[in-house]
Amino acid sequence: MSEINKKTLNLQKNAIGAYADSTDISEIFVLESVDSTNTYAKKLALGDAKSGTVVIANNQTAGRGRLGRTFYSPSDTGIYMSILLRNTDGNLDSSALTIAAGVAVCRAISSLCNIEPQIKWVNDIFVNNKKVCGILAEAGFDSEILSYIIVGIGINISTEVFPGELSQIAGSLKTDVDRNIIAGEILNQFFKTKKACGSPSLIDEYKFYSLVLNKKISFTQNGEIFHGTATDINIEGNLIVTLENSETVTLKSGEISLGSKNFT
Ligand code: BTN
Repeated sequence: MSEINKKTLNLQKNAIGAYADSTDISEIFVLESVDSTNTYAKKLALGDAKSGTVVIANNQTAGRGRLGRTFYSPSDTGIYMSILLRNTDGNLDSSALTIAAGVAVCRAISSLCNIEPQIKWVNDIFVNNKKVCGILAEAGFDSEILSYIIVGIGINISTEVFPGELSQIAGSLKTDVDRNIIAGEILNQFFKTKKACGSPSLIDEYKFYSLVLNKKISFTQNGEIFHGTATDINIEGNLIVTLENSETVTLKSGEISLGSKNFT
């Protein structure tokens, strides 16, 4: 076991709660192991759990990522958490919350761990060109009306070995800062950035952390590969790309690759 792993402290409800002082947090569940914190939070959402309920696990046996992928979630070296938000005032938006969560993670880890995170549009956080964090926002509907959104955040704190192809893409913060403090700070920052959803200042901050702006990128649409330069991110968090033929396209979702490397 490495020095970092030896120092890793257990995730504990009291320790997280002592640091996470946002009044928007209703309750924090800390689990040793679960299939997926997003799935667990969904079950709570179908009951009477309040908006602001948080589920954090030390391990996930079936962590989920975007586009049907799995999210590798080993014990003791990461933070896997989900935040339940109810759409009580009718203005929750998955894309905006993904942006808010990305900025919150960057704020928390840059201030606590003294590192320089970057966001690969739209929801991946990179440190030293390795993906250290993914965000998965999932919506729940009641008679076709948005009822709640679960914002899932998975962050590799001190994981050293990743299986198979993941070893080329994934990395960790390599920090010995207490996971309880990192989790608490992400929550505090998230409930601040959530209030700024849709504001120019939040988008400016998102752009500040961007790994892709002014870089050559490629993406696939309807089986065709497009190449261009990421020139801007608009107020809705959409990526503006100037294609090689000078045409401009606006990407609302999906996945891009940077340069010749495939970071997906
Ligand atoms: C991605 O990289 O595609 C998104 C990964 C999101 C992983 C987090 S870990 C906590 C929450 N529970 C899950 O099953 N997934 C999210």
